[in-house]
Amino acid sequence: MTSLGEAVLDGAEATDLLTEDTPSRYVAAHLHRDDVSLFDGDADRDVSRSIRVGEVPMPELAPDEVLVAVMASAINYNTIWSAMFQPIPTFRFLEDLGKQGGWNGRHDQPHHVIGSDAAGVIVKTGSAVQSRSVGDRVVIAAVWLDGQDPAAQADGVLATSQRAWGFETNFGGLAHFAVVKASQCVPKPPHLSWEEAACNSLCLMTAYRMLVSPRAVQMKQGDVVLVWGATGGLGAYAVQLIRSGGGIAVGVVGSARKASALEKLGCDVIIRRDEIEADQPSEMEGARRIGKAIRREVGEDPHIVVDYTGCDTFGKSVFLCRRGGAVVTCGSSTGYSHNYDNRYLWMRLKRIVGSHGANAQECWEATRLLSLGRIVPTLSRVYPLAQVGEAARHVQSNEHIGKVGVLCLAPHEGMGIEDHDMRDRIGEDRLRVFRE
Ligand SMILES: NC(=O)c1ccc[n+]([C@@H]2O[C@H](COP(=O)([O-])OP(=O)(O)OC[C@H]3O[C@@H](n4cnc5c(N)ncnc54)[C@H](OP(=O)(O)O)[C@@H]3O)[C@@H](O)[C@H]2O)c1
Repeated sequence: MTSLGEAVLDGAEATDLLTEDTPSRYVAAHLHRDDVSLFDGDADRDVSRSIRVGEVPMPELAPDEVLVAVMASAINYNTIWSAMFQPIPTFRFLEDLGKQGGWNGRHDQPHHVIGSDAAGVIVKTGSAVQSRSVGDRVVIAAVWLDGQDPAAQADGVLATSQRAWGFETNFGGLAHFAVVKASQCVPKPPHLSWEEAACNSLCLMTAYRMLVSPRAVQMKQGDVVLVWGATGGLGAYAVQLIRSGGGIAVGVVGSARKASALEKLGCDVIIRRDEIEADQPSEMEGARRIGKAIRREVGEDPHIVVDYTGCDTFGKSVFLCRRGGAVVTCGSSTGYSHNYDNRYLWMRLKRIVGSHGANAQECWEATRLLSLGRIVPTLSRVYPLAQVGEAARHVQSNEHIGKVGVLCLAPHEGMGIEDHDMRDRIGEDRLRVFRE
């Protein structure tokens, strides 16, 4: 443990944190360039083999950056992609960023510190940072960009400089310290513990833009919304956003255990894909069975289908969506080449909408819903940083429910809660809805 880390854990004031030296090395979950061929010839790219935990050098802080002492982080699917070195090794992203030179040159290292979520305390600020201060308790939005990029003024995720922090950039969140742009810092909801606060941002913010933003499908009251993987990272926030916005949530899950978790989340209609798949129907027959179940329960077809599973589901999504409806997508866990019958799209005037991350305003608004208690964390399990490989493997094997957290500097769960009254108002049962 570094002296700076210890000072944060002791609750040091900002003035004391400012007197602490920045450590020259820190503990981080990382991939190593030497390992990119580790899985050659292996059918199972077991990410617990490629993720290392150990010391890496501390980078110098750029003027628009802050150094965050990370109390907790979480596993995202992009960490699984990185650690499988698929579809391409993420070192390629770091090389490209490094070629830009200047401060971006720091990102091209033989190690890649991974992780796109974090909650912690700002301990150092770059010379140009005005809006954030040492001592601020923050959660980190993964959208990394150059604020001087003109497109960023219209919509941050349209900026060509935009990257996913900890995936397309170095110095990510699964570590004792993280280097982020000041613009990525959003105030931590005070009623949440560090691990509860750290698990939401990437998935909640992405789901918020997909469903709520006028730049994606902007769900309205009464819309029927079909969500694949409804207890997954994105899915469980999508279900909550649909319910909170007056929509009717139809969630698809792959097991009885996940169906019972989804029931606790208040999902209106629950469909078990494992039961349908047990009969090995053709793709269209499987889709028709889901469609019939939705009509039986709600009387209508979905206005919106939320799809991030990709290859295995996309044809069904395009079919199931109602005339004039939209399929919104932000990922392809089961494969990125999608097949669908285009007749269902054009003849029935449907739309496919691509969405990615969220802009800064959307990130703040999504986090505000957490602070108000309208959305709750979907944390199911928490691992220490030393076991981050097992945590990631749990997600890679699709055994997880909701989010899997990782304690970084925080020595145990339950730390960091400031607003106990708010917690009482929301209720522990809701706040721990997916806890195992
Ligand atoms: N573009 C962005 O900004 C962005 C942000 C976040 C995530 N993503 C991407 O979105 C994808 C999902 O991320 P996540 O965090 O939600 O992952 P996740 O927690 O693993 O959830 C994915 C869900 O997909 C379901 N699933 C798996 N195989 C399936 C199949 N063959 N058919 C139907 N459903 C299947 C699983 O549910 P059941 O087994 O219960 O059906 C699982 O819960 C990833 O590819 C990730 O990279 C993109």
